[in-house]
Amino acid sequence: MRIFTKAIRALHTSQSRVRLSSTSNSARQCCHRSPSFSSVSDRNAIVDLRSDTVTLPSSHMLQAVTQAPLGDDVMKEDPTILEFEHSVADLFGKEKALFLPTASMANLVALLSHCNTRASEIIIGTESHINLWEGGNPANLGGIHTRQTPEDNDARLSEQGIMDCFRNGVDDHWPHTALLCLENTHNMCGGVALPKSYLDQIGRLAHERMNIPVHVDGSRIFNAAVAQEITVKDLCQHVDSVTICLSKGLGAPVGSVLVGETEFIRLARRARKRCGGGMRQAGVLAAMGMYAVQHNVDRMVEDHVNAKKLGKALKENGFYLLRDGKIDTNIVYFGLPEACTITREDFLLRLREEYGVKLTGGYSSGGKLFRAVTHMHIDNSKIDRAIEGMIALGNS
Ligand SMILES: Cc1ncc(COP(=O)(O)O)c(C=O)c1O
Repeated sequence: MRIFTKAIRALHTSQSRVRLSSTSNSARQCCHRSPSFSSVSDRNAIVDLRSDTVTLPSSHMLQAVTQAPLGDDVMKEDPTILEFEHSVADLFGKEKALFLPTASMANLVALLSHCNTRASEIIIGTESHINLWEGGNPANLGGIHTRQTPEDNDARLSEQGIMDCFRNGVDDHWPHTALLCLENTHNMCGGVALPKSYLDQIGRLAHERMNIPVHVDGSRIFNAAVAQEITVKDLCQHVDSVTICLSKGLGAPVGSVLVGETEFIRLARRARKRCGGGMRQAGVLAAMGMYAVQHNVDRMVEDHVNAKKLGKALKENGFYLLRDGKIDTNIVYFGLPEACTITREDFLLRLREEYGVKLTGGYSSGGKLFRAVTHMHIDNSKIDRAIEGMIALGNS
């Protein structure tokens, strides 16, 4: 590993040399050149497993932007957005789609549109991203109450748990249940890919027994589909709306898409404007999203293979693995071996400094868990470097 440390040092030196030499050029050149140089170099040197949101657009993806016809999308005149929304709706077998800046906003807009009356309540998993990581948006921004029920190890809400939460509004004390939310893949449960059979079952339960729609936070729905060798259309057949994120495993820099029925998307468009998410010549972003959906779906298999390789190696070397090491997609949650003598903070710091591997930590189980997320900038050799570093430090 010393070789790697040397390589990193050499790289830093050459980077600062380039920065110095470009400062001696005109200021304009410096501003133009440094960011792209440093971003490409960092990308090659560092094994960044903090999230699949860290990817940078490829030159082909950027090239797509230059070809995109543009217009004002608030006036529904951006041809690239219109084409992209149409094609994503088609891909998911839904009537309409709406382009948004982020998945958090897409989820909020979905909730605002489904919960169109005051005193609405949603049934949602305790560990879901909407519940834990979106600033309490349902309540804080939407005036929507959340009724939470726990996921099991496979990220499923039980029928009993859901029915226990259901309130049909006959009692004046109650809000009324307006929506059921799922997450696929499920981040906090370990990138679990929920199968079509479960989505169909919950769709039936919601529609037939509760008469409410189902929204899926499908920020990583393509990971779920690829892992199960099913189309997103099939997978999402019996749910009503889906949030799709373009800036995670798909590798676009910005953007999300919400799909659903025509009336739902009409309401969503209004809600997006209220949230400040009506963008103008946003075809520059949609062009990259379109490129991502066309080119970066099938390759997710590699991310899943790398995540499984990492999980297997850690388990074999005494690390704790969520779900006993069952990894469906690109997310690995793990804890240090019991005999490990270094602190969690030192593990992160030394992994970064000595091996060039970035991770996040502090997740559940009393903050003991770390998360590694594979993506398109993580190849086999980078996974090997991460494994080497983690095992060396974890067993020290
Ligand atoms: C499952 C899930 N949903 C939603 C989001 C929010 O995405 P964004 O950062 O685009 O708002 C994330 C982000 O990591 C996520 O993991």
